[in-house]
Amino acid sequence: MSDLHPNLVVLQNKSLLNLFTRVRDQTTSPSDFEFYAKRLMTILAEETIADLPLATSPTTVSTPCSSFTGSFVDSTKICAVSIVRAGDSLLGCVRSLLPGVSVGKILIQRDESVPSKPAKLFYSKLPPNIESKQVILCDPMLATGGSACKAIESLVAVGVPPGSIVFSNVVCCPEGLKFLAEKYPEVKIVTASIDEGLNEEKYIVPGLGDYGDRFFNTV
Ligand code: URA
Repeated sequence: MSDLHPNLVVLQNKSLLNLFTRVRDQTTSPSDFEFYAKRLMTILAEETIADLPLATSPTTVSTPCSSFTGSFVDSTKICAVSIVRAGDSLLGCVRSLLPGVSVGKILIQRDESVPSKPAKLFYSKLPPNIESKQVILCDPMLATGGSACKAIESLVAVGVPPGSIVFSNVVCCPEGLKFLAEKYPEVKIVTASIDEGLNEEKYIVPGLGDYGDRFFNTV
């Protein structure tokens, strides 16, 4: 439980400090950024999957020496949705952990010359049975929350209950968390870092700059 959002999970993992120091460093080359960001997002993706409220009944398996009771993640009950383009990087990590998982894509863009204008939905391609699945919404940076909110709106419009959505991001900030807490408190957020806040250009501070540009080497 946090003051910023009622449904927030912040990863606690010893490997994150090294990986974050690499990806935040502006002198990190594009190939190293991709390498360390993928390692970081793989941890995030594993923890996001582990946080899904999947009702897996206890299953007993035989080990070579005895038996073990645990449970499996059923990837047929999951849909991973990216907010294009930066979200595609995290989607790739989720897909590498859940081969064959169903995938959706949402394209939302802001008019960068008018930062006060709300983000607009341009394209959405979602699987027909998405409303019966747990949805992992992928976008590495939660800044103002405007794009995330539009993406959630379009999922809800096709029947996905907000409580079935987990929004996974690498870095978030108080502004975005508070905005989503007001609009969609039921949507769970899994993040690897809560940074200080936004600067005047709406970049996260200290942040890491433009995630999509650095990951896809379009700086
Ligand atoms: N998107 C990014 O890529 N970086 C930020 O700091 C904020 C939004």
